[in-house]
Amino acid sequence: MSWSVEGTSEDEVFARIGEMKSQDARWDEGKTFSLVYPTGREDVDRVLKRASDLYLYENALNPIRFPSLRLMEADIVGMTGELVHLPADGGGTLSSGGSESILMSVLVNRDRARAERGIERGNIVYAESAHAAFAKAAHYLELEARPVPLAEGFVADVDAMSDAVDDRTVLMVGSAYGYPHGVMDPIEELSTIALDRGIGFHSDTCIGAFVLPFLERLGYEVPLYDFRLPGVTEMSCDVHKYGYNIKGTSVILHRKSEWIGYQYFLYNQWPSGLYGTPTVAGARPAAPIASAWAVMNYLGVEGYLELMRTLMATTKKIREGIEAIGPLKIMGNPIGPLLTFTSDEVDPYAVCDLMDDRGWNLDRNTNPNGLHMMISPIHARYADEFLTDLAWATRNCGESRGLEARYN
Ligand SMILES: Cc1ncc(COP(=O)(O)O)c(C=O)c1O
Repeated sequence: MSWSVEGTSEDEVFARIGEMKSQDARWDEGKTFSLVYPTGREDVDRVLKRASDLYLYENALNPIRFPSLRLMEADIVGMTGELVHLPADGGGTLSSGGSESILMSVLVNRDRARAERGIERGNIVYAESAHAAFAKAAHYLELEARPVPLAEGFVADVDAMSDAVDDRTVLMVGSAYGYPHGVMDPIEELSTIALDRGIGFHSDTCIGAFVLPFLERLGYEVPLYDFRLPGVTEMSCDVHKYGYNIKGTSVILHRKSEWIGYQYFLYNQWPSGLYGTPTVAGARPAAPIASAWAVMNYLGVEGYLELMRTLMATTKKIREGIEAIGPLKIMGNPIGPLLTFTSDEVDPYAVCDLMDDRGWNLDRNTNPNGLHMMISPIHARYADEFLTDLAWATRNCGESRGLEARYN
């Protein structure tokens, strides 16, 4: 499409957007199991929209011009820190998402190791199930990435991780819980190794930070994963996942607030005075900050607990439904609302092809092949329909159509 010279009528603009958007995933109809985390609640959606609408034009780059944003950021970091037991002398900042939080953590650990241990070119050690953002951060920051094969149950292999650490390791990583299988790495054992060897340890709770604390409060057995473990130095906590905010907010937390100094970029060698940012972005959208503050305060701890009750009841129903479909089996021991399943009898990708035909968006896992789903509160309304279609797809699938057929 070429850019119109005279402009386009408002009706026409929105008609065209509607046309393009008709191809998008139907997350609001409960068909999508990743990328979006809908509560399915009109009141929550309204709060998000009202707060975002108030801050469409503001710029979070300058906290002096927009002190309300600075106050809201501090509150969001404070509330998140409280959830994961950040010590009183710890601190953190907002970022645009999990990947940026992870990038900032790797940067801080690289530069801290450089300053404190004289390591010029370090490495980071993580299990193969760690989010790809760690490999990306290592790539950007010119660190050697050391992915370690998983142990049984798709969890980090403590001995193999320990063996991968050497004098130039600047950071070890554990996922609580991980994206590929929803299982908890043994954070306590891994972070103890890091503590004993004087290495930073990142507990990646991009998904877990707004799940695990509420599961604990509801009486679920949850292994320790946060700053209660003395070896944990950093945590990434995404408000735009199970914090139910719109996209654009994560919190990166450091055990010691002084380490944030390694995160900041400060510069005054240009004609516009002092320029400083805590993350990669310069100009930053204000709407996700306002909506994060709004939704966290609107729901409160009780609101998150209520959503978690629905979420876990739905997860249980879906898990039992999958297990009841003979050839399918759950992979590992997922702890929260994330399930992956596979099969020795049918091709999971062939099942997925048929589910695609019925409009369901499941993600395809590899090694071994499986199907991946992140459950959200909205799925409570659609679990029965999903399980009926999954049983049908499992019974009727033949061979997978392959990648080409899928994207043509
Ligand atoms: C465990 C984990 N870490 C990090 C990330 C990266 O987060 P983002 O996509 O917000 O950059 C994700 C995303 O799903 C994740 O699940």
